[in-house]
Formats: sequence, structure tokens, C-alpha cells
Amino acid sequence: LSTIRVDVSGVETGTQLTVQYLGKPVFIRRRTEAEIEAAQGVEMSELVDPVARNPNIPEGADATDANRALDETGEWLVMMGVCTHLGCVPLGNAGEYTAGGVGGWFCPCHGSHYDTAGRIRKGPAPQNLPVPTAEFVEETTILLG
Ligand code: FES
Repeated sequence: LSTIRVDVSGVETGTQLTVQYLGKPVFIRRRTEAEIEAAQGVEMSELVDPVARNPNIPEGADATDANRALDETGEWLVMMGVCTHLGCVPLGNAGEYTAGGVGGWFCPCHGSHYDTAGRIRKGPAPQNLPVPTAEFVEETTILLG
């Protein structure tokens, strides 16, 4: 299995780095406090897909924000940039579920809205954006795969 190391030292808060992994885009987002708070404030009953979709934690875990974020502070969110409807690449800082105009994703192909934790909230996509196998291996280096 192939792995890649990504240096995230240059990623500013409120922005994301997109890297290619196994031929697909991976979004590595450094979230603002507002994005984290917005995601943490969502009740499970509001979610279309209640499953975390995160292979780094036990299968079937709830899609809480803590179960989606990479680190304990929730600052880092890593997920595949592939819409779970038909595979378009969602746009960042877009859609109805942003926090103060930042965060959230919107897929322009058929109008799927993802919140600041990458969870599907509205539109035809059936599942949350999947989290890839990932971990911090150094303070500013993420290993994918
Ligand atoms: Fe994203 Fe259809 S591919 S909404």
C-alpha cells in the first residue's frame, strides 16, 4: 500500500491544502474556531449520514465532529475531496453550512452541501465525505495511507 507524507506547516488557519493521493484529491483543512464550534454544535439528529466514515476509529462510530477531525483540538480535518453523489470535487468555503463565510463545501454538480466537518447536510449526496487513513507523524507532517 502506498503512503505519502504531507508537510502542513504552511497551511494557514481557515484555508485548506489539496493533495493528490491514489489519484484522488484529499482536502487537508486547518479549521478556524468558528468552523470547529459550528461543527460541534450540530445534533446527531440533524445529520443525513450519522456514520463518521473514518477508518482511523472503530467502524460505525457516530459522525460527531470529534470522530471526524484528525487531532484532539479539532483544528485539522482531512478527507477525500470527492462528492459521495457522483464524484465531483466540492468547492471549499462554500454552501449553506459555512461558519461566518468560511468552511463548508458545496458540490456544484448537483448541489450537495457539506458542513464544516465535511458531513452531508443537504442535496443528493448520500454520505459524508470519507476520511482517509491518516495520522500526524511529526508536529507538522501528516501521513496519508
Ligand atoms: Fe456532487 Fe452530484 S456529484 S452533487
